[in-house]
Amino acid sequence: MTSDLARWRAETPGCAERIHLNNAGASLMPRPVLDAITAHLDQEARLGGYEAADAAAAQIAATYQAVAELIKATPRNIALVENATVGFAQALSAFDFRPGDVIVTSRADYVSNQLMFLSLGARQGVVVRRAADLPEGGVDPDSVRTMVNDRRPRLVALTWVPTGSGLVQDVAAVGAICEAAGVPYLIDACQALGQLPIDVAALHCDYLSTTARKFLRGPRGIGFLYVSDRALARGDHPLLVDMRGADWTGPDLLQLVDGARRFENWEKACALVLGLGAAARYSLQVGAVGFERAGTLAAGLRRRLAAVPGVRTMDWGRQRCAIVTVATDGIEPAELKLRLRARGVNTSSTAHEDAVIDLDAKGIKSVLRFSPHYYNTEEELDNAVTALQEELHR
Ligand SMILES: Cc1ncc(COP(=O)(O)O)c(C=O)c1O
Repeated sequence: MTSDLARWRAETPGCAERIHLNNAGASLMPRPVLDAITAHLDQEARLGGYEAADAAAAQIAATYQAVAELIKATPRNIALVENATVGFAQALSAFDFRPGDVIVTSRADYVSNQLMFLSLGARQGVVVRRAADLPEGGVDPDSVRTMVNDRRPRLVALTWVPTGSGLVQDVAAVGAICEAAGVPYLIDACQALGQLPIDVAALHCDYLSTTARKFLRGPRGIGFLYVSDRALARGDHPLLVDMRGADWTGPDLLQLVDGARRFENWEKACALVLGLGAAARYSLQVGAVGFERAGTLAAGLRRRLAAVPGVRTMDWGRQRCAIVTVATDGIEPAELKLRLRARGVNTSSTAHEDAVIDLDAKGIKSVLRFSPHYYNTEEELDNAVTALQEELHR
């Protein structure tokens, strides 16, 4: 074991308990994240919630700084929100959709995003158009270009890495098309953050939504939304702003605040804000070696699983990531997940209603999902594959 790997594992209490291959669900928090959260809760209990927040003002500001650094933005572009879904919804609500307005998206977009588009269709007459896939899977940028040119969409929204497959969509190519056409672009980077390098300028996006608890290894219940200078200069703001996002300057007057803060709510779980900051700093410290190792471990796991009788690997696309999905013969993925959990191996399953289009295209009803991270070991992967094999063939 390398010294880095030994340190990452020593700093991750959960490594001693389980083989955690559910980093796409919620990763194991490293000690510095845990400590940041519990120390602040302790302060709240001793000082009072508002007083503890005042005392932690500098550390709270440091969270914006660290998160901005992660995606190569500045703190004024960061809005801290409860989760990726809230960030995505806040961004969507910045658009005054009219009946007939088109949103272009992909066939692999996240279930809740698809539900929001459908809800906008029912409430506001928005038309949803899904770009075609490449033959090997993943959105075809040329199809987006054609739709952008033919339909002049109000917005293009794309999930970078879907929840139930190891696919990585070419969000940068789509971003270049949107920027050239002057069409706003929203990226769901929920599964990308912490497993892929992110440079928002290279993605050409107006917005990018994320969550802390997945590959970034932060706590549950917090995420952030990146809002570009372009969107801020346009005067974009969420439909419903509160006193964090705007000042009430007269009985009938509101004045938006300057930065992405206008997309936030006033009330915050400060302990989670500090946990997010610690997770961002931890990820920056681990650096690119973490991204590479997660991808390499996943590729090795995919190869091992492909050799197991009764198991078919299901990840499509030119580029694949640290999410490995398989279809299984004989036992449903949801049941296998529970059996593996009972043996100390954490995985996850994706049901049909979580990925309707993708699973229909693959001709299956659900998948079992393994999502390793850089702190996992080859031995853990071997043990997980053996456990799966034994459950399938006992
Ligand atoms: C691709 C993708 N987008 C968005 C989300 C939603 O994230 P959250 O639950 O933090 O709102 C998920 C959660 O699994 C996801 O996988």
